[in-house]
Amino acid sequence: MAPKRIFNFNAGPAALPQTVLEEIQQEFLDFKGSGMSITEISHRSKWFDDVINDAVARTKRLFHLDDRYKVLFLQGGASMQFCMIPMNFLAEGRTADYVNTGTWSTKAIKEAQILGKPIKVAASSEDRNFAYIPKDIAFTPGATYVHITSNNTIKGTQWARFPDTGGVPLIADMSSDIFSRPFDAGRFGLFYAGAQKNMGPAGVCLVAVRDDMLALTPATLPTMLKYTTHADKNSMFNTPPCFAIYTVQLVLKWLEETVGGLDKMAQRNQQKADLLYNLMDESDFYNGTADKDSRSMMNVTFRLPDEALEKKFVAEATEAGFGGLKGHRSVGGCRASIYNATSVEAVQALVDFMKTFQSRNG
Ligand SMILES: Cc1ncc(COP(=O)(O)O)c(C=O)c1O
Repeated sequence: MAPKRIFNFNAGPAALPQTVLEEIQQEFLDFKGSGMSITEISHRSKWFDDVINDAVARTKRLFHLDDRYKVLFLQGGASMQFCMIPMNFLAEGRTADYVNTGTWSTKAIKEAQILGKPIKVAASSEDRNFAYIPKDIAFTPGATYVHITSNNTIKGTQWARFPDTGGVPLIADMSSDIFSRPFDAGRFGLFYAGAQKNMGPAGVCLVAVRDDMLALTPATLPTMLKYTTHADKNSMFNTPPCFAIYTVQLVLKWLEETVGGLDKMAQRNQQKADLLYNLMDESDFYNGTADKDSRSMMNVTFRLPDEALEKKFVAEATEAGFGGLKGHRSVGGCRASIYNATSVEAVQALVDFMKTFQSRNG
C-alpha cells in the first residue's frame, strides 16, 4: 500500500522531495554495496568521503563559488553561527553592522552583544512589527561585515535584492531560503543555513566562507568554535552528522539533475508564491501581513478576519490533508511555508481549499 502523505506546509523541519526520501529508503540497509547503512559506516571511509565531497561540489556549482570559498557542514544549527561569526571575525578594534528584520536577526544581534562586541544595528523594521525590509541603509564604512537575514521565516519577509554595502562583505543567515534562487555569492564573506527547511533534516548547518574572512579567526578561540578548524579538515575535525549530510547531498542532486538548477527552482518558487499572493490580493478575507515589496517566496504569512476563523481554517485544513498552516506561536495567524520541495500542485490544492473555505465562511 502506498504511504499516506499529506500536503506539508511546515516551516521546519519541512517537506523533502519524495524521490529523495524513496532513494534513502531504498539504500538504507545497504549503502552502495557496503553491506551497511549510511548510519553505520565510518566518516573516514571512502563511501562517506564521496558523499561529503559531492555535497560540497554541488554547493559550489550551484552558487558558482570560486576557490576562495570553503563549504562546511557544522553542528549546532544556524543558532551556533550567531555567536561563532562575531567570535571569529570581530577581534579587538573591529566592528560590524546588523540589520534587524525579525526574530532571528534579533537573536543574532543578541549573541554579538553578549560577547561585548561593538556592533551597530544599522537598520531595523521593528517599528512596524517587522512587516518590511528596510531600504536606503547607511552602513558603517570600514565595518568588517554586514549581517542580514535573507528570509524571515516567522514574519514572512525576504530581501528581494541584497543591499549595497559599499564593498563591506555581506554575511547572511539563509536558513529559510538557501538554494531557492540564484544570487551573487561573490559579495558574501559568509552565508549559512540550517538544513531543515530547504536542504535536508535537522542536525547540520551549511556554512560557505571566504578565505579573507577565515584569515581573521583568532588563535585564542576554542578549537571547535574556530571556522578554520572545520575548513582545514573538510568538516571532519570530529564526527560530522553523516546522515544529515548524506540527505543534503541527495537533495542537491535532485536540485541539479531533476529540477535543473537554481534558475529553474526560482521560477517554480515564484509560480507557487504568486498563486497564494494573487489570492490574497483578490480577497479581503485573506490578508497578507508583509508589505508587498518585502513578501517572502518561502513563508507566506496571512490573517483571516478573526482568530476564531483562523482556528477553524487550520483545523479544517488539517482535516483535509494540509499540514503546518498555523502561524508561529509568537505571532499567531497563518503561515504556508512553500520551500523548494513543495510542489506547484500542492500550492494549487491549498489555494483551491482556501477559496472553498472563504466561500463557506466569508
Ligand atoms: C532564519 C532562521 N535562522 C535561524 C534559525 C534557527 O536555526 P537552528 O534551529 O538550525 O539553530 C531558523 C529556524 O527556524 C530560521 O528560520
